[in-house]
Amino acid sequence: MKLGIVGSGIIAKEFLSIAHHLKHTTISSICCTKRSEAEATTLAKEYLIGQVFTDYEDFLRSETDTVYIGLPNHLHFSYAYRALMAGKNVIVEKPFTPTIEQAMVLSRTARERHLFLFEAVTTLYQPDYRSVKELIPSLGSIRLVQCSYSQYSRRYDRFKNGEVLPAFDPACAGGALMDINIYNIHYTAGLFGMPESVHYFANIERGIDTSGVLLLDYGSFLCSLTGAKDCSAPNSCIIQGDKGYLIQNSPANVCEGVRMVLNDGLEETVVNHLDSHRMISEFLEFEKMILSGDLKTCYRYLDHSLCVSKIQTEARRMAGIVFPKEVEGVQ
Ligand SMILES: NC(=O)c1ccc[n+]([C@@H]2O[C@H](COP(=O)([O-])OP(=O)(O)OC[C@H]3O[C@@H](n4cnc5c(N)ncnc54)[C@H](OP(=O)(O)O)[C@@H]3O)[C@@H](O)[C@H]2O)c1
Repeated sequence: MKLGIVGSGIIAKEFLSIAHHLKHTTISSICCTKRSEAEATTLAKEYLIGQVFTDYEDFLRSETDTVYIGLPNHLHFSYAYRALMAGKNVIVEKPFTPTIEQAMVLSRTARERHLFLFEAVTTLYQPDYRSVKELIPSLGSIRLVQCSYSQYSRRYDRFKNGEVLPAFDPACAGGALMDINIYNIHYTAGLFGMPESVHYFANIERGIDTSGVLLLDYGSFLCSLTGAKDCSAPNSCIIQGDKGYLIQNSPANVCEGVRMVLNDGLEETVVNHLDSHRMISEFLEFEKMILSGDLKTCYRYLDHSLCVSKIQTEARRMAGIVFPKEVEGVQ
């Protein structure tokens, strides 16, 4: 696989630090803004990246076969769409796209062109998340699910001082739901699929949710998903059934061991081998699927991303958080 990276920010650098785990992949290029060219050139030297581009169309004309997009949320759709139209496979960082309408356009384009399209979300690919799936039937009828992911953001201090960075900017499709609660949605929808209804209650400052509680109603059980960038607390995922409960004492993006406690006294703790970095397992799976031509599994994950995107879009609109231009349709 010849992988080209778009962006030279935090997540692009994190990815580069684990890229050596991909044994059948070369990082062929990096595409950045003109203002970040010097920084990208330094990264290219450090990680032996073939070419540095500051023009996306030139980048798309290069020999790269797969494009990894690590840009602010509002750019995900247009950059992914252009890459697909140029015949490239695409890995786009979470959250997939700001709206379900955009997500559906990307999905349709990838399928029509027989290209791979992934949302890079760590949760789904981690061994302990798969264990959670296997343990759920032992819990009996599910009654309640609670996922909490709160992380006080240093960017929130700057937001309070009047500076609006992409993570808190409606124009950049930011906010707590998009940035952090999205992991809880992935976690829950990956286990239970599409809920019957969605309700989002948010703390909104200057048009953006800095924290909030999302309720998913599955008819026979309820899920409460908390995401915050303006305060902190211990993070966990708890699934309660009428025969017992399961607890993961880590946020939904890093599944680090689960403990199941049943009403009859039986306890089981599962801790699989953990990779040294949360991003390794997802990228190993992307590499495997692409190299083996496994479009079927890729599109199964894509269907899941569409489900999450639908929940996110409905929830956000219900809370009155509408991104600029969103009302005009697909951007
Ligand atoms: N940070 C994390 O822990 C994390 C984890 C998982 C997923 N993600 C996702 O990764 C994405 C990027 O997040 P990040 O934290 O890496 O953000 P970041 O540090 O702000 O980096 C964003 C990158 O995008 C570039 N960029 C901005 N505007 C652009 C434009 N108009 N055209 C081309 N490039 C542009 C920036 O270049 P300049 O610096 O020159 O503006 C920068 O290299 C987000 O979708 C986020 O949800 C982040």
